[in-house]
Parts: sequence; C-alpha cells; structure tokens
Amino acid sequence: MAEDLVRVETAGRTAIVRLNRPQKLNALSHAVETQLDAAIRSDAVRGSAAVVVAGEGRAFCAGADVSEFVDASPGGILAYYETLGEVYERIAILPQPTIGAIHGYCLGGGFELALALDLRVADETALFGLPEVAIGIVPSSGGTYRLTRALGPARAKELILLRDRFDAAEALRLGVVAEVTPAGEALVRALELAERIAALPPLAVRVAKQAIDAAAESPRHAALMVERLAYATLSQTHDADEAARAFVDKREPRFEGR
Ligand code: COA
Repeated sequence: MAEDLVRVETAGRTAIVRLNRPQKLNALSHAVETQLDAAIRSDAVRGSAAVVVAGEGRAFCAGADVSEFVDASPGGILAYYETLGEVYERIAILPQPTIGAIHGYCLGGGFELALALDLRVADETALFGLPEVAIGIVPSSGGTYRLTRALGPARAKELILLRDRFDAAEALRLGVVAEVTPAGEALVRALELAERIAALPPLAVRVAKQAIDAAAESPRHAALMVERLAYATLSQTHDADEAARAFVDKREPRFEGR
C-alpha cells in the first residue's frame, strides 16, 4: 500500500491537510504532490467550509525534494507543470478559504505552498526562506508571481535574492503571515480562524474570496463590476435575508448556504 504522505482529517467544519513525511522534513517529492492533489479532491476537503494545511514533525516543509532534481530534463519539467506541478494552482483556486499553520522550516516549495493559501499563521519557531537562486534555479511553484503580487517587486527581489532565512516576527512585519503564536500553537490558532470563517454564510465567504482574487488580477472597472454583481447575487440569497431578519428579531442567524 502507498505510504500515507499526506493525511486529511476533519475538525468541525474544517478539513486539515497534513504533510506527513516528517523524516524528510515534509520535502515535496512527486509522491507527496500526488497525494496532496488527491487530498484536495477528497470528500473531506470538498465538503469543508475551510481548509488548514499543516506539517507533521519538526517542520512545515523544507521545500521541493532536492533528490528529485537530479536527471531533470526540459521536456520532463514542462510535462510536470502540465500535470502534477499544477497542484499549487489547484490549491490557490480552492473555493473555500485556506489557512497555513506553519512551524519550523518553511522553505522553497514549502514557502510557495504556504503562499498559495489565503492566510498564514506561524508559530515563533517558524523560519522562512527561498533558497532556490542559491542552488541555481528560481522559485517556480508560483513563488515569484505570488510574492510579487503580495509584497511588490522590490520586496520579492529582496526575499528571493538577499534573505537567506527570516523568522516569524519578520514574516509578520512583512505581511507574509497574519499572526504569530507561541511555539506549538499555530495549528490551534489556524483552526480557530477556520471555524470563525465556517460560521459565516458560506456563499458570501466563497464569493468574497473569489472577488478578492479577481480584483488582484483586474483593472478597477472590472473589479468593481465583479463586486457589484457579487452583491447583486448574494443579496438575493436565503442567508442574506436570514441575516437581516435575525437582526430585526434580535436573534442569532441560521445560515443554510443558499
Ligand atoms: N529535499 C529532500 N530531502 C530533504 C529536504 C529537501 N528539500 N530537506 C530536508 N531533507 C531531508 C534531509 O536530507 C534529511 O534526510 P536524511 O536524514 O535521510 O539524511 C532529513 O530531511 C532531515 O534533514 P536534515 O538536513 O538532517 O535536518 P537539519 O535540521 O540539519 O537541516 C534544513 C534542515 C532544512 C536546513 C536542511 O535539511 C536543508 O537545507 N534542506 C534543503 C532545503 C532546500 O534547499 N529547500 C528548497 C529546495 S528548492
């Protein structure tokens, strides 16, 4: 039987996707990526209101499996991005919010996996870095693209070319993570945030996520039109009506996702 390199669990309405290759600091081998892809297609993830991604052992993830770089050919690499290498994009476009719970090393492809998520919570042991250029390549699981979008080109260049490692406090200052927790508490905090999101009206959550992602890629007029159309649709949902009625009746709303 195939080794259990990625585990999916459920906590409340949240799915936890856990990298489970601790003896190799959760290095992203093709086998791990294959199971990560299966994990995000699993019923547990599809049926969840939010997804938390975490790592087993002493690190979130030490990056792409360097031992698989040997024998890479241009054709093989292009084929990889047409198939398995797309997993980071498939994670980025999951409809429900995704949160990274980061501890220990978060390097290279592991950092890029974290950047493909909507939010990141790190504990104070987290160490971030993009070692790719130092080993003669570049971040290529969406890293140059997403860091540039998130932080701007100057910061992206600083992190990719100049910063060997940076800690959780620095990640917070840069805006790479939303919060820093004491050691060992990133997953608990990520789950708290995920459950807060899970309590919100689910259609509004999903549309808000997608409207924000579309806004990041769109001219002003198109972005505003998207949010107005989103409002026009959401305002007609049962849940929006229920929220207004509950306010008037001074009671808690009961959302049904319709
Ligand atoms: N790919 C493959 N294996 C990796 C790995 C990676 N990216 N990162 C760690 N491992 C393996 C190590 O080879 C080691 O395996 P072994 O016990 O069979 O020898 C095991 O994980 C533990 O790592 P180790 O190096 O012993 O731990 P450490 O605490 O001394 O150092 C790191 C941790 C992260 C500093 C170090 O492992 C490292 O530099 N890894 C490569 C990071 C990297 O370049 N990632 C980006 C690739 S683009």
